[in-house]
Amino acid sequence: MIQFFHVSKRFVGGQVALDDLSFEIARAEMVFITGASGAGKTTLLKLIFREDTPTQGQILVNGRNVSSLPRAKVPFLRRTIGVVFQDFRLIARKTVFENVSYLPRILGMDREQQRRLAYETLRRVGLAHRLTAFPQQLSGGEKQRVAIARALINAPEILLADEPTGNLDPDLAREILELFVELNLRGTTILFATHDRALIDRLARRVLTLEHGRLLSDRPAAAEPVLPPAPATLDLAAMPPVEVAATEDGETPREEPAREEAAP
Ligand SMILES: Nc1ncnc2c1ncn2[C@@H]1O[C@H](COP(=O)(O)OP(=O)(O)O)[C@@H](O)[C@H]1O
Ligand SMILES: [Mg+2]
Repeated sequence: MIQFFHVSKRFVGGQVALDDLSFEIARAEMVFITGASGAGKTTLLKLIFREDTPTQGQILVNGRNVSSLPRAKVPFLRRTIGVVFQDFRLIARKTVFENVSYLPRILGMDREQQRRLAYETLRRVGLAHRLTAFPQQLSGGEKQRVAIARALINAPEILLADEPTGNLDPDLAREILELFVELNLRGTTILFATHDRALIDRLARRVLTLEHGRLLSDRPAAAEPVLPPAPATLDLAAMPPVEVAATEDGETPREEPAREEAAP
């Protein structure tokens, strides 16, 4: 779904933000992008939604080359991608409803359709009761939920989140993370950039680690996404031995082989 082939990004002035990055992200994956401040996380995300273009290499989203996309096609790419930022980026003078229904409005949906879609989307993030509130009346966690609803309103296939929990205290950060997990379980492909190890370690998802713009490691998901969270790194020596369930006669249970004679 998202493919990077030898992608580099060098800014004018010589700053290398990304250095020969290659990886693929499959549909419906949830991947953490981590690394210290300045490692290239934000740049990586910006290249995916064509906020910027690479100096070298190719980026494909759904098989389409993002970097060579004509400018006129960029809005179509962006309709398949929702983006959430650390600082929420809500419009202060607009209500929750107006913030969330901005896109349907410019796409020409009528007011009733907008209202229904905004309500439905805010319900998914647990905020349907705050339609008429203004951003300053909301907590940080609520603001981020509004921003997530705004990103989701178009039913994007891909959700990019750039340090979405960076301004939230740990409890709210966990709530927001859980919301992303829920969205991922419903099929949205998610790239979640964060330098918060504690948050990453709550889940067994894939982790791409950047260092000075290079891919330092690509830790695969430790389990299928539908399985409950597991520790990120298992210290086997520190773990108690696993008890193997045994049958009454002491045998290890196993599947009964299919009996030939049972078939008619
Ligand atoms: N517009 C820019 N001009 C010059 N250098 C930039 C620009 N944006 C980012 N950089 C540099 O690129 C590197 C990666 O930045 P960034 O992608 O923001 O990292 P992260 O999000 O991991 O903190 C940093 O060294 C940063 O200073
Ligand atoms: Mg950043």
